[in-house]
Amino acid sequence: MELSEVLARRRMVRRYTAEPVDPAAVARILDRARRAPSAGFSQGQTFVVVTEERRRHALAHACDEEEHVARGLPRWLSSAPVHVLPCVEPDRYRARYAEPDKAGSVTPDDWEVPFWWVDGGQSLMLLLLAAVDEGLAAGFLAVRAAAVRPVVGLPDDVAPLGLVTLGHPAPDRRSGSLARGRRDWSDQVRWEHW
Ligand SMILES: Cc1cc2nc3c(=O)[nH]c(=O)nc-3n(C[C@H](O)[C@H](O)[C@H](O)COP(=O)(O)O)c2cc1C
Repeated sequence: MELSEVLARRRMVRRYTAEPVDPAAVARILDRARRAPSAGFSQGQTFVVVTEERRRHALAHACDEEEHVARGLPRWLSSAPVHVLPCVEPDRYRARYAEPDKAGSVTPDDWEVPFWWVDGGQSLMLLLLAAVDEGLAAGFLAVRAAAVRPVVGLPDDVAPLGLVTLGHPAPDRRSGSLARGRRDWSDQVRWEHW
């Protein structure tokens, strides 16, 4: 698939069919997400992939799926055959920037923009796009770290960015937020000067 087509097709999908996902496709998606750039090539992006039904249900529970369903939202997380928690590890940046070739660089705890969030976002985007490229769909949900941490045994110094669902798309309802419409191009893209 052409990149432009992948970009055009990508959207958050919140419902999946029961069709299983080929584990080789999941591995390829993760491999593409791993290709994201990272500050100093610190590679502080780490992914927890969950396919076991019991653990996916535990994640759905930790993310309050029952409450969402009771409010009329689709049963999203437990319909997805694969969950991925894209995480970042700030300590890998601290260790990398303590290496001799980084002497003189601003150290991670003084960064104006903590680059682990930037790099994590880049990995997340690649994950979403690689899913489309594999003919699958993906969605992203914000999570409470404290709720998901015990389900997958995340260490305290690893921060989950959220939860990505992967699977074959089923008909779903698009987010109500989209009714706001896309910002005007000329408002969002400034040429030469703000
Ligand atoms: C950082 C971030 C957090 C998001 N959190 C949620 C979420 O918790 N629940 C949800 O249903 N969608 C969530 N979304 C999806 C957005 O609502 C969605 O991307 C936006 O409405 C545009 O729709 P599209 O991605 O299908 O084009 C999130 C997206 C981003 C980038």
